[in-house]
Amino acid sequence: MKALVIQTAFGLENLAVVDRPEPTPAPGRVLVDVRAASLNFRDLLIAKGQYNPKLALPRVLGSDAAGEVIAVGAGVTRWKPGDRVMNTFMPNWADGPISDAVTKPTYGNDIDGVFAERVAVDAGGLVEVAPHLTFEEAATLPCAAVTAWNALTAANTGPGTTVLLQGTGGVSIFALQFANALGARALITSGHDDKLARARSLGADAGTNYKTSPDWDKWARQQTGGTGADVVVEVGGAGTLDRSLKAVRTGGHVALIGVLAGGNAFNPLPVLMRAVRLQGVFVGSRAMFEAMNGVIAEKQIRPVVDRVFPFADAVAAVKYMESGSHFGKVVMKM
Ligand SMILES: NC(=O)c1ccc[n+]([C@@H]2O[C@H](COP(=O)([O-])OP(=O)(O)OC[C@H]3O[C@@H](n4cnc5c(N)ncnc54)[C@H](OP(=O)(O)O)[C@@H]3O)[C@@H](O)[C@H]2O)c1
Repeated sequence: MKALVIQTAFGLENLAVVDRPEPTPAPGRVLVDVRAASLNFRDLLIAKGQYNPKLALPRVLGSDAAGEVIAVGAGVTRWKPGDRVMNTFMPNWADGPISDAVTKPTYGNDIDGVFAERVAVDAGGLVEVAPHLTFEEAATLPCAAVTAWNALTAANTGPGTTVLLQGTGGVSIFALQFANALGARALITSGHDDKLARARSLGADAGTNYKTSPDWDKWARQQTGGTGADVVVEVGGAGTLDRSLKAVRTGGHVALIGVLAGGNAFNPLPVLMRAVRLQGVFVGSRAMFEAMNGVIAEKQIRPVVDRVFPFADAVAAVKYMESGSHFGKVVMKM
């Protein structure tokens, strides 16, 4: 079977779709025929050696897949052939708070990833696909959607709250859809006016271009009567955090998620002087994934799939993601 593998060295030039041995379901594990997989910014970082420079190679890439169960190992009662499933990002994090014990392994890093035609995974590390979703849509959920859901729910997002989102990538567009579903108001930034228009049509209340109007923190305060946003979904990292801390209201919540904007220092003073809750987010548990799926099914939410590549063109899909042209998620179809 084929898999997308970082071969003997880091760099996108060393990424290739190659043959790997067929997996078999050991006791407690489930063999899944992968139908679609989605890319995350993390995959780019991993392939370039920027996520974990000590990663042992070769390594199958990927954290997000959806497919159909084709066989189960001894002792598995949770699943049967024909079930439509998605993997969780951390197969050991079923429920409860995060701890060292549950954050390892993660696919495509400590263990081989799921960008493969078939995978054998722990029975406890799967969730059911909502009936209205295609495999291409379902494959977008394990990392970006669960992260956005965890960030917003941990911040008590709901009616009467205003959420500020950065850019129009996978995490931010899910956060937009979930903010809508939770009854919150969403403000969004983008480096592209056409993407802002698209975000408005998806339910964003207002948007601003962070390239042509870099003072988006001031803009966010104007949009909130001078108070600041209740919640900032921070995907830029150190490069945007100072502005996020100006854009959030006193006593507000910044969900610290990403590293898109680079940078390496920020001023911690506003965190204390304005009593901001700075909450790191690392994807989420299976229980969070299941709760999110309940809302996705109830509200008939459809993930925003920007483009679907055939799996044979997986390297082109990764390069497309690197270009930053996408809006929402980039998917590969097996
Ligand atoms: N902590 C976690 O558990 C977790 C989980 C998932 C992702 N992440 C991290 O979260 C970040 C987003 O991941 P993703 O998969 O959603 O990425 P993505 O889909 O590749 O998002 C890329 C988009 O981000 C926007 N962007 C880039 N630089 C920006 C900046 N300086 N300010 C504002 N927006 C900017 C751009 O949107 P426009 O084109 O609209 O400008 C770009 O198209 C990454 O750093 C990723 O590693 C962390």
